[in-house]
Amino acid sequence: MKEKIIVTGGCGYIGSHTVIELIENNFEVVILDDLSNSNEKTIDRINKITGITPKFLKVDLKDSLKTDEAFKAHKDASAVIHFAAHKAVGESVQQPLKYYKNNFYSLLNALEAQSENGINNFIFSSSATVYGTPNVLPITEENETQRPFSPYGNTKKIAEEILDDYTKSNKEFSAISLRYFNPIGAHESGEIGELPSGIPNNLMPYITQTAAGIREKLMVYGNDYPTKDGTPIRDYIHVVDLAKAHVIAVKRLLKKEQEKSLEFFNLGTGVGYSVLDVINTFESVTNSKLNYEIVGRRDGDVPQLYASTNLAKEKLGWSTNKALDDMISSSWVWEQNLRNENN
Ligand code: WQD
Repeated sequence: MKEKIIVTGGCGYIGSHTVIELIENNFEVVILDDLSNSNEKTIDRINKITGITPKFLKVDLKDSLKTDEAFKAHKDASAVIHFAAHKAVGESVQQPLKYYKNNFYSLLNALEAQSENGINNFIFSSSATVYGTPNVLPITEENETQRPFSPYGNTKKIAEEILDDYTKSNKEFSAISLRYFNPIGAHESGEIGELPSGIPNNLMPYITQTAAGIREKLMVYGNDYPTKDGTPIRDYIHVVDLAKAHVIAVKRLLKKEQEKSLEFFNLGTGVGYSVLDVINTFESVTNSKLNYEIVGRRDGDVPQLYASTNLAKEKLGWSTNKALDDMISSSWVWEQNLRNENN
């Protein structure tokens, strides 16, 4: 019999790619999603790619009764992967309470409901933002976390602290927190990818929307950082590589291979690229010119952030396969498919 995994936020960007990898690894998937920043069409697209339709329940995890009902109906699940959260950094600065309320109510209700229903394995969708402004690079999981610049980032840091307290108090319960660096790219089928609502915050969707003519030009936020070309350096990771790490992490919990009741892993490639590297690669991959302008720095940006990937390699046996060209060309294919569909 297939093991069942509950995926909250499974219609979202990273969630949907993870659902595909889970199905391809022979898991049964139940998606809980409120569709606040995603689309139910994703379910059909997952079917198109895998031939399987995952079970879908439209649930707002802020509602504790509905959350409990959903978990009760699937108490035979072996693990939960919790993606459901708001994630726009800029919006979180404008509306911190919306972020604290949504991200914490959802997390707490999911934890409570799953424990009450005897599901004791949990994967948390965290972020490299918990490292704040790092003083050591590449950054390892041993480094202290710092208060992130944004309320969004702070929800990730505090969530890790909640998991720390909870795994200590409930000996049955195990969790893995996966700290994502900068996920970009889309599934090779071109069927699923990121659906940013409104004006994108992140670099990659801003680039593809500019190239597609939806945005007039990309603003490059600062070229006076202490880096090789003055623009900030990040560790971009293909979303499919990232999704695969979730499957490995779930298997680690199911096989009880974890060494501590709460483990943390960086998910990055270990290689840093500057904003201009990304722009230049986009131009060469698409054989086009991107309209961009260098402007002032954006509040809260750190000069450089890239991962040490040793721990994930050693303990999970996971490493990335896809290069920056692949990440960028798949993002571009996805953007064009989105435009064709909307026209
Ligand atoms: C990358 C670089 C910008 C947009 C954020 C969150 C993090 C994670 C991923 C998600 C920076 C520059 C960007 C633009 C630009 N969370 N840039 N013009 O800030 O590293 O990380 O997204 O859910 O928690 O903090 O990613 O893609 O926004 O920026 O010049 O229009 O691109 O200044 O140097 P970031 P990003």
